Amino acid sequence: MTGEELVARAEAVSASAYAPYSRYLVGASVLARDGRVFDGVNVENAAYPLGVCAERTAISAAAGAGLRPGDLVAIGITASPCGGCRQWLHEWQLERVHFTREDGSVVDSTPASLLPDTWELPAR
Ligand code: THU
Repeated sequence: MTGEELVARAEAVSASAYAPYSRYLVGASVLARDGRVFDGVNVENAAYPLGVCAERTAISAAAGAGLRPGDLVAIGITASPCGGCRQWLHEWQLERVHFTREDGSVVDSTPASLLPDTWELPAR
């Protein structure tokens, strides 16, 4: 799937977001190496910090299906990923990150350029 196709799918998925507090609907679609696609939306909570971003629910769906870092190829997102999600994109070794800016343009990027000099848990 191309980046544009992933972003278009994420746009459709965003309609299912549960965002009654911000009213900011976000969708994310992750393409796995085996061709499967996992979708996610932001899910907010009245206790605001407990809300979760669309990227994380999409990746969590893939994790629940047994996929692991290295199994995911690309992600399409309807918003620029937040700092915390960039750390998730790094952990899950996405090769391509495609997202829409507020002006509607699509950005094709990588976890390394979105989060340079990334922190790693020291070997133990
Ligand atoms: N949000 C995401 O789902 N992904 C991002 O990368 C940016 C922010 C959500 C979280 C919250 O539900 C809403 O957007 C407003 O911050």
